Amino acid sequence: MNFNVQPAAATNATVTVPGDKSISHRALMLGGIANGRSTVSGFLAGEDCLATLDAMAAMGVEVRRESATDLIVSGVGLRGLVEPATNLDLGNSGTAMRLMAGLLSGQEFASTMVGDASLTSRPMQRIITPLALMGAKIESADGCPPLSVSGVGRLHGIDYTLPVASAQVKSAILLAGLYADGITTVKEPAITRDHTERMLATMGIELEKAEQRISMRGDQDLIAADIQVPADLSSASFVMLATILSSNAEVTIENVGINPTRTGVIDILQAMGADIRLRNERQYGEEPVADIRVRSSDLRGCEVDPGLVSLAIDEFPILFVAAAAASGLTVFSGIAELRVKESDRIAAMAQGLQSLGIRVDETEDGATVHGGQFTGGKVESFGDHRIAMSLAVAGSVATDDVIVKDVEAVETSFPGFASTMSQLGLSIR
Ligand code: S3P
Repeated sequence: MNFNVQPAAATNATVTVPGDKSISHRALMLGGIANGRSTVSGFLAGEDCLATLDAMAAMGVEVRRESATDLIVSGVGLRGLVEPATNLDLGNSGTAMRLMAGLLSGQEFASTMVGDASLTSRPMQRIITPLALMGAKIESADGCPPLSVSGVGRLHGIDYTLPVASAQVKSAILLAGLYADGITTVKEPAITRDHTERMLATMGIELEKAEQRISMRGDQDLIAADIQVPADLSSASFVMLATILSSNAEVTIENVGINPTRTGVIDILQAMGADIRLRNERQYGEEPVADIRVRSSDLRGCEVDPGLVSLAIDEFPILFVAAAAASGLTVFSGIAELRVKESDRIAAMAQGLQSLGIRVDETEDGATVHGGQFTGGKVESFGDHRIAMSLAVAGSVATDDVIVKDVEAVETSFPGFASTMSQLGLSIR
């Protein structure tokens, strides 16, 4: 399936985007091992989180779907998961596989996790190494999926400094830490999304947090909770940029998660001149939310602060589009991690933008994007949801029609993307 994008400007609108992917995964995993019934509202019914749902169900967790986005998760308790009858298929989701590796390491049963072609090429040694230090036994295909976890039943706490800033690795260690004797400590080289820590706290787990260091005692029981999932800022960023690049548009995106470990995209766009305001700031439990009001703005290129990279890690594809539409040069550095996401996102965006007439000078850990005008053309998404959506936004302000190829993966994180964009006045079919 392709997107056919015709040039069209955004108009005034108020929209919502689907629930936060990271929080939806965590609600299923933590709710599944809590004592009691958790309710989850605003769940992201995208393929990635549904893969986590199926995996938890395969291990004995009853998940009742009251509607597409409202769930009741009947937790089985810390030691209540049962051996799955078949391999756990986590599809395209690195978050599902890495977090679940932590969860499975402390179980008494063996399990095997598999994924699609993209997931099967993604690095897993980054979780295998610390989990093995905790006593886990995990076999991989040369550091990549499938992963077979022996299930040793009991782990021991470690004090581990992450070699790369990764919320997935941090979370895998914390989940394993629930099954460990003693204290588990993780230190991160840069602040990464802290949804796991916040949800653990919501569920009654005592955690100590100091700057980039988190410590937790094992064997604590989780208490079921009512979790309201905010709209996903990563999905909202496509709406934000489509608005910014139109003329005279004002769009409000409601109930969006603005956890400070995620808001790098707002900071970077504002530094480029975007008119973005937060309204109606409030809390969904431990998670801050707001309505985001965006207005059309002229963007100027900048040198993107490498200190913001881990706070905007999923937004670089759309930020490349912002850079291409800005005046002057935008320099991205310190983003080598993008090369091991659902695709090599530096190469994918460089190629996509170049096909649309933009000059991009790629480096090992970044790129310099020369602001210009998008032409029409046919571009590859490399099966990556965020590449597909970013290039569709570029197509909306191109001089001619743009075809984005193989966009099925958009369903992993943003079901209804094209219809949400049509509410703004865009033409993505
Ligand atoms: C995620 C962490 C990030 C991010 C991913 C979701 C999470 O990955 O890119 O989309 O939910 O923990 P890394 O931990 O690999 O940076």
